[in-house]
Amino acid sequence: MKRSPKSPRKSSVHRVTLIPGDGIGPEIVAAVQSVLAAAEVPIRWEVRHAGASVFKRGVASGVLPETVRSIRETRVALKGPLETPVGFGEKSANVTLRKHFETYGNLRPVRELPGIRTPYSGRGIDFVVVRENVEDLYAGIEHMQTPGTAQALKLISRRGSQKIIRLAFELARAEGRKTVHCATKANILKLTEGLFKRVFEEVAAEYPDIRAEHMIVDNCAHQMVMRPEQFDVIVMTNMNGDILSDLASALIGGLGFAPSANLGDHASIFEAVHGSAPQIAGKDMANPTALLSSAVLMLRHLGEMAAADTVENALLATLEDGKALTADVSGPAGVGTKAFTREIVRNLGRAPKSYPRRDYKRLRLPRADAATPAPSRRAVGADVFVECAENPATLGPRVESAARGLPLRLAQISSRGAKVYPGEFGVEPEPTECLRLRFLSADGAAVADSAVLELLARVSSCAPWVHVEKLQEFGGKPAYTKDQGED
Ligand code: NAI
Repeated sequence: MKRSPKSPRKSSVHRVTLIPGDGIGPEIVAAVQSVLAAAEVPIRWEVRHAGASVFKRGVASGVLPETVRSIRETRVALKGPLETPVGFGEKSANVTLRKHFETYGNLRPVRELPGIRTPYSGRGIDFVVVRENVEDLYAGIEHMQTPGTAQALKLISRRGSQKIIRLAFELARAEGRKTVHCATKANILKLTEGLFKRVFEEVAAEYPDIRAEHMIVDNCAHQMVMRPEQFDVIVMTNMNGDILSDLASALIGGLGFAPSANLGDHASIFEAVHGSAPQIAGKDMANPTALLSSAVLMLRHLGEMAAADTVENALLATLEDGKALTADVSGPAGVGTKAFTREIVRNLGRAPKSYPRRDYKRLRLPRADAATPAPSRRAVGADVFVECAENPATLGPRVESAARGLPLRLAQISSRGAKVYPGEFGVEPEPTECLRLRFLSADGAAVADSAVLELLARVSSCAPWVHVEKLQEFGGKPAYTKDQGED
């Protein structure tokens, strides 16, 4: 029995949904099961399926209903990588699971591993990327506004931001970390990324024991490469977090070593960051490190703190020894998945010689605030997007005359956020077929919906409208941005 004498035996058995997945999935999942069994972690696995085999059975989501049912009951899943085979719909089974269970919090620990040489070895990299996982551009709400112009909606909510940012601070506390950075593009995207930054500043005040720092996301990318050891926890919106978490993984040896947790209020899913590596599937060549590290995150989530330390220490000791590593690390001298796994099992009870210890406490999943009372609001205009290749200098007067008599006046026309009418411009703007007509209240009074609907009908006589946005003021402040060149 290799179980650490320190690890208390829990009386309750944890039910966990286990999805073997595709490619190397079943091999690395089997490796994790055997290590956890040898460590005597009290888990009862419920094996359920998703991915290529399920798509091929004609299930368009790639996830079987019994898999969803099982996760709903167990609330915890460990998942191998899933493939979306070509020709089986557009949906990825991963995205289906993420959306179904609203796993809003994606945690990606990035920690230097003993025995894994990288250009950063010895620098003590040890931070966690906390990525918002359900909002932002990844809601996937896209439209072709015209045959030549595409649009994606970037949706950021106050509540979604509160949850992920509080999660980042709670994580800092649970892991004894001192600083939370928030990386945004709030300097350009003042309302979306700006909301995330404002919520970060508000939430930071709830955690006076943790240092809070904001950084522009492009600088964060630069800093991550130049001085990654400065970071403890970095919280980001979905797309920024997606890109920078992959960059971060490269600092410690690549995606093959990167674990992840997808946390949600109803269920949490733990998985390696890498894919199904079909080229090496079934050849006993896969490295189970990332999935085993994900299982360690899962054990901490389940409150099995001592078992998590035992398994992690055995893995780290095996990597540090470097005697039996898989071929992706050791090249031709490498051993197979099974031999590597046996080595980890043999090392249960050992710890790496020179590796800083961290005291983990159980992470508390935070809540968003109850909805705050809506501020006073009024409509003050409308942005009407039209498909039109006409020169704005002639379109403008035509639209002005069409809108005559309405309580709305054409304030300006813009192309891709830059004003093109009225006025003189330094350079002739690149002609586009999608123009935005900004109408504002003619006399400063609130604008009724009926006026906007009448406006749409009149604008259509000049150019077909493709999209409309109401311009509002919340609490007396504009709830929209101004264009480059707008007064
Ligand atoms: P991949 O991560 O499967 O492979 C990239 C490279 O890393 C390959 O050379 C592969 O052999 C190697 N590699 C990955 N994991 C390894 C491991 N544990 N041990 C040793 N070598 C490893 O990425 P790729 O090729 O882009 O994707 C393959 C499939 O996986 C695709 O169908 C993709 O959609 C899916 N995928 C699924 C993910 C998930 O379920 N979370 C994530 C990423 C990709």
